[in-house]
Amino acid sequence: MLKKYEIGTITTKLKFRVQIQFSYIYLKPNYHLNTMISIVGAGRVGSSAAFNILRFRVSDVVLIDIVENLAKGEALDMMQAAPAIEFDGRIRGTSNFSEMKGSEIVIITAGEARKPGMTRIDLMNKNAKIVKSIVKEVVRYAPNCKLMVVTNPVDIMTYIAYKESGFERNRVFGMGNILDTLRFRSYIAMELNVSREDVRAIVIGEHGDSMVPLVNYASVSGIPITNLLKKEQIETIVNLTKTSGSDVIDLKGSTTYAPAVVIAIMVDAVLRGRNREIGVSTYLQGEYGFSDVSIGVPCILGKDGVEKILELELDKEAKRGFEEAVTILKDAIRKIAE
Ligand code: 2OP
Repeated sequence: MLKKYEIGTITTKLKFRVQIQFSYIYLKPNYHLNTMISIVGAGRVGSSAAFNILRFRVSDVVLIDIVENLAKGEALDMMQAAPAIEFDGRIRGTSNFSEMKGSEIVIITAGEARKPGMTRIDLMNKNAKIVKSIVKEVVRYAPNCKLMVVTNPVDIMTYIAYKESGFERNRVFGMGNILDTLRFRSYIAMELNVSREDVRAIVIGEHGDSMVPLVNYASVSGIPITNLLKKEQIETIVNLTKTSGSDVIDLKGSTTYAPAVVIAIMVDAVLRGRNREIGVSTYLQGEYGFSDVSIGVPCILGKDGVEKILELELDKEAKRGFEEAVTILKDAIRKIAE
């Protein structure tokens, strides 16, 4: 029988804790004891992301919302769950932006969410104002943080956050293609009836209708899916991936669990300096032949945020799709109401 090994309290700064119970020992990293992140927006995605971060025991959390009781109520609810998830850190709810002081990461989830039939870009002007006002508070209270944008349309909001903050580009990134990739992986695994864990894939471009799932980089433990699936099956999966967000919105009004868990994965990658390959929206300065646009590309996400942008060889179709996405985003950026 596979033994579950986790190694704990060795007196190192990472604060592992050894607990030997019965026939297995397990690791319970106590990272939250010395890190703090803030989430602006205590709606479904923001609060669910906060709870995931607590469950992974990655960090303390300050949940900020202009509706103070919402932030306080979510925090109190999670604090009451803390013993069950063995989380010993702190979760605070507030409407006071100054409480983000000292945050290693600030996550912006606040803004209007799209309704059935809307595209993410339809939210642009309203959410641009919200993101600009929040970025001013971030610059004031957490000028050294990594700034993660979730508010849609995330590529355009990431561009705005980068420009408004004046931060180095590696410190400003958007949660986009990692979510599309998760969905792409899910559909491949379902179609092949294999473990989702063994499916690897990459989506690039807009976190939106013009996203580009890269079929040639999708595999089951390195076996290309083109060896395992017919062309029509792959086409169906690509289309399902593109509509997956709106499919959920059409059924239940908004997405929650998938965006929330990937936010926690990204926080974990940064705080623990894990240098994970993750598709994020980032400001290009010549990569893939484009500049002055924030768009989803495969990156190495670690202690300093975007440690590296990975430039992949793209086939003709993928190249065309990516170029289309850049054009759509640049056109939209030009239309942002001043
Ligand atoms: C999604 O696709 C919220 O854009 C996010 O679920």
